[in-house]
Amino acid sequence: MLWLKAFHIVVVISWFAGLFYLPRIFVNHAMATESAEIARLKLMEHKLYRFVTPISWMVLASGLWLWFGFGFSGGWLYTKVALVLFLFAYHGYCGKLVKMFAADLNTRSHIFYRWFNEIPVLILIAVVILVTVKPF
Ligand code: HEM
Repeated sequence: MLWLKAFHIVVVISWFAGLFYLPRIFVNHAMATESAEIARLKLMEHKLYRFVTPISWMVLASGLWLWFGFGFSGGWLYTKVALVLFLFAYHGYCGKLVKMFAADLNTRSHIFYRWFNEIPVLILIAVVILVTVKPF
């Protein structure tokens, strides 16, 4: 189980690298005016989203394996899974935003994306406390 948990933590960290960086690119894209920079940002968004999506599936698979394979239970785990499902919705919405930016359909300001960028931070703090402290 410890090898699986180590793998779980590695893919979790990799997923969050993408969840922290992609909205940051959205911030820059919402401010960009030059066509060469906009084309570069579109490519970065597309490649990063395509790279980080399979990693999110590895987080899910390793988490479910830990959960059902080793009989974990408790309020901490169900709350964690609820927050993680919200994180998957956030990830999916980022995918929708990548398509909107690619089609030059974004209407939101860089301020919106700066706040949007903070959501995964709050979820990470809550999930790590839940899984290590197991408060309930
Ligand atoms: C549906 C997805 C997920 C499920 C079902 C799941 C389930 C689990 C389970 C059962 C453990 C073992 C707990 C223990 O050994 O005490 C674990 C460990 C861990 N999980 Fe997840 N997890 C998921 C996603 C995530 C995400 C998204 C994060 C990060 C925000 C995360 C962070 C961790 C950490 C840091 C540990 C190691 C805790 C420790 O060793 O004390 N997990 N996970």
